[in-house]
Amino acid sequence: MINKNLRDQFIEITSKAAVASYKFIGKKNKIAADKAAVDVMRSEINKLNIAAKIVIGEGELDNAPMLYTGEKLGTGNGPSLDIAVDPVEGTNFVANNLPGGLSVLAVADRGNLFNAPETYMEKIAVGNEIPKEAIDLDNTIEKNLNNLAEIKNTNISSLTACLLQRPRHKKIVDELKRLKVNIKFISDGDISGALLVTNKKYNVDIFLGIGGGPEGVLAACALDSYNCHFQGRFLFKTDQDISRARKMGIKDLNKKYELNEIIKGDSIFCASGITDGDLVKGVKIKDNTYYTETLVTHKNLSNNIIINKLPCS
Ligand code: FBP
Repeated sequence: MINKNLRDQFIEITSKAAVASYKFIGKKNKIAADKAAVDVMRSEINKLNIAAKIVIGEGELDNAPMLYTGEKLGTGNGPSLDIAVDPVEGTNFVANNLPGGLSVLAVADRGNLFNAPETYMEKIAVGNEIPKEAIDLDNTIEKNLNNLAEIKNTNISSLTACLLQRPRHKKIVDELKRLKVNIKFISDGDISGALLVTNKKYNVDIFLGIGGGPEGVLAACALDSYNCHFQGRFLFKTDQDISRARKMGIKDLNKKYELNEIIKGDSIFCASGITDGDLVKGVKIKDNTYYTETLVTHKNLSNNIIINKLPCS
């Protein structure tokens, strides 16, 4: 059971993690920016009256990171929850003082949040005005875009697709160009990229391409609260990736996951800005106080932007 009080405590946690990482903005040190947020997130989650299990963390126990996948946190007195964390999403953004750095977590009741392996994921997301059946990872790009154009009563050339700018996307990009679709490239940060389909103001009709699997699960959690559509399919490159996935219980390596297989029931997603971005503003300081902005989605309640104040220490 995720009540509003608990939601507010998680907003406070991503806000504090954003402030911790903010101190490393532009310092060209991705690892330090990440570590600062990880440490705060871990110690703050540990104080909560919950029995939490990290289902997506900073790596495996063998590498002994903080917030490792499988780690149990919280006082143990309270609801049993699954938590997925990305203490700094867009480490490059923070290290280089670029827009889009976020501190992110997602929470669901125990057993309701997919335990994703650390591997790439093929993703597709569209807004809630599109019928679920219209878009599919197994369709050609042309078919998906034709369907979108028809539903939106417009031309393919008026549509905008958002994707990470990566060499692996060459085929997709060539096809988008052939179809004269507008392309919004992002250099990093595909949680934000996927969430651009949630509101017309972002002018993104479809998000697609290959990015991190854990980021796919986190984005799916927020997209579920907006009643948007998402599909994901993991991609395994090495034998080690495959054996890790098998250990996590994944039998069908080619399985296409629907949103309701990734996140079930009530959930919350919090993304606090470190640097300014499309979704939220970054940390600001005024009158010896840090101001943070957090996008919070709560499946059973509402989706909001919350401003928090934290004293400068
Ligand atoms: P980090 O913040 O961990 O650096 O991840 C940034 C990111 O852009 C993710 O948003 C995305 O899913 C992933 O990296 C893409 O990976 P790659 O850079 O290998 O294409």
